[in-house]
Amino acid sequence: MYKLFLGIAGFGAAVLLALPAMASHYVGSAQCFSCHQEQYNHWQATGHPYKLRTSAEAMTAKLPLPPGYNWDEVSYVIGGANKKARYIDLQGYIITAAKDGSEAKTQYNLENGSWSFYHKGEKKPYKCGPCHMTAYNANGNQDGRPGIVGTWVEDGIGCEECHGPGSEHIQQPATANIAVDRSVEACGKCHQRGGIAPEPPASGGFIQHHEQINELKAGAHGTLSCLSCHDPHKRAIQVKDNCSICHAETAISFAKTTHAKAGKKCLDCHYAKVSKSAISLNSYMGDVRTHIVKINTDPKAEMFYDVEKDGKKSTYAKGFITLDYACLGCHGSKDREWAAKNAKGFHSN
Ligand code: HEC
Ligand code: HEC
Ligand code: HEC
Ligand code: HEC
Ligand code: HEC
Ligand code: HEC
Ligand code: HEC
Ligand code: HEC
Repeated sequence: MYKLFLGIAGFGAAVLLALPAMASHYVGSAQCFSCHQEQYNHWQATGHPYKLRTSAEAMTAKLPLPPGYNWDEVSYVIGGANKKARYIDLQGYIITAAKDGSEAKTQYNLENGSWSFYHKGEKKPYKCGPCHMTAYNANGNQDGRPGIVGTWVEDGIGCEECHGPGSEHIQQPATANIAVDRSVEACGKCHQRGGIAPEPPASGGFIQHHEQINELKAGAHGTLSCLSCHDPHKRAIQVKDNCSICHAETAISFAKTTHAKAGKKCLDCHYAKVSKSAISLNSYMGDVRTHIVKINTDPKAEMFYDVEKDGKKSTYAKGFITLDYACLGCHGSKDREWAAKNAKGFHSN
């Protein structure tokens, strides 16, 4: 649309005057339901729309509150759909202490109902909008709340965050007036940390979360797109069951193994939970599946490496999963040497 504007600008004022009517504006996801119920219903089941919910919406989702707070003292809840929830006060700051100011854990973890500290006691503005909202604009403060950095048109990741403004399309449905971006970067705009380089940042023995594009590029699937496996409207657990399409021989031989007979799947080893969002279940099991996929069978291999820059140490993951993360999360009583013996040539044994 913008390119078109530049291209025809030379034709003069008559064309330019016609442009404002052509420019689409944002109408909200609810406007898409009537004609695209399938996409809408799938999208509603994912975490995308729930990145930010008003306290009224979150209350009906039965999420608990940080110590001392009532629902009318919370403006928004961040997430709480999949792994964890954080809370925003009426001034727009992320809650980092109990209501009376005393020390308290203020991040709720869905998987086991536990609470964690989140930037204990800090004054923490909510500036997470670029990755959580529809049509984020870094200027201003949403609802005039000083702690919220920026404004947006719809809470959470609505249809138009990926498809662009839809006012023209809903009046005159056509493929030409609605955007579709199938590139890996379109998803990697948010599913990344510190850029999209093949260097997934790590800390505390796990890859950090929201790094799917960094992991993908670091690992063996660097040439694939997110859409090779995901329908962008569906939940992660509804990912296409398509490993066997590209790895037919491996899939046939795997079907005969003890693991397959015990109901284990390709993703149990190759998409091990090497990344952590809310909690870790043991030293080798976080709560987010990695996209690195390649397993290194050397018992001495290390998952992570450190880089020192300007006196500051940063940790990154290499382009493979080590045996402790791939195997010992389930086989906790064994060690790397045992795993190596059984892992080498795994699919040809
Ligand atoms: C009045 C019905 C209607 C509404 C409302 C509507 N659409 Fe559509 N949409 C269509 C039709 C019909 C097509 C197929 C157009 C074609 O093939 O020429 C379509 C196609 C699309 C496509 C596919 C484009 C492509 O290049 O293949 C996308 C994406 C889309 N709509 C998104 C949206 C979004 C987002 C909204 C809400 C802002 C929305 N639609 C609202 C009728 C509608
Ligand atoms: C996270 C980004 C994202 C969100 C959010 C999203 N879409 Fe899409 N949508 C896409 C992509 C990417 C495609 C192209 C899929 C492909 O070709 O495999 C697509 C395709 C479509 C199509 C074409 C048919 C199809 O399913 O491939 C329609 C219609 C559509 N989207 C409507 C919607 C509506 C309505 C919403 C909100 C309820 C929505 N989308 C939310 C990214 C998104
Ligand atoms: C504007 C930022 C943004 C964009 C663009 C985006 N995502 Fe997301 N995505 C998120 C956030 C934030 C979450 C976490 C939502 C939650 O769990 O509350 C998420 C969650 C997901 C999930 C897990 C959904 C579930 O509930 O199981 C999948 C799968 C996913 N995204 C795939 C994609 C794909 C594929 C694309 C590109 C077509 C894409 N995303 C584009 C921000 C984004
Ligand atoms: C670079 C983009 C990006 C930024 C910046 C970002 N997030 Fe996220 N966030 C994501 C994505 C993508 C996911 C889901 C995928 C994952 O966790 O691996 C997510 C997941 C979450 C979840 C879990 C949601 C759920 O339903 O379980 C919470 C809570 C969250 N983010 C809070 C924050 C807060 C608070 C900030 C700002 C201090 C922030 N995020 C900044 C991209 C981002
Ligand atoms: C080769 C297939 C494949 C590709 C390519 C792929 N994914 Fe996945 N993805 C998976 C599988 C398999 C899972 C695990 C599903 C499950 O838990 O049942 C998954 C899980 C996820 C999750 C949820 C992780 C968790 O455990 O919370 C997110 C978010 C996600 N993918 C986003 C992306 C994004 C963004 C891209 C592109 C940068 C991408 N995926 C590329 C196969 C793929
Ligand atoms: C669209 C095709 C495609 C799909 C779908 C796909 N892969 Fe791959 N996979 C590739 C390509 C291409 C490579 C890199 C070339 C190679 O080593 O064969 C690869 C490499 C791998 C490797 C690393 C091989 C090595 O070097 O050690 C593993 C492991 C793997 N895939 C597992 C999976 C699993 C598990 C799934 C399903 C969740 C899956 N793949 C789905 C195409 C695909
Ligand atoms: C119990 C764990 C486990 C499961 C489950 C598993 N793999 Fe593997 N896979 C491995 C290990 C270990 C290697 C590394 C073998 C080596 O390097 O000698 C491997 C290697 C691979 C390779 C690289 C080529 C090769 O044959 O060494 C591909 C591709 C692959 N797996 C795909 C799959 C697919 C597809 C599935 C499901 C049908 C699957 N794997 C299930 C453990 C597993
Ligand atoms: C998701 C859980 C899970 C993961 C991950 C896993 N296993 Fe297993 N493994 C099982 C289960 C379940 C069985 C069958 C019951 C039993 O014997 O404990 C099994 C059985 C085995 C056995 C004995 C049966 C046989 O096939 O000879 C070996 C050896 C083994 N696993 C090695 C590995 C190695 C090596 C890895 C990593 C590459 C691995 N496992 C990853 C769950 C897992």
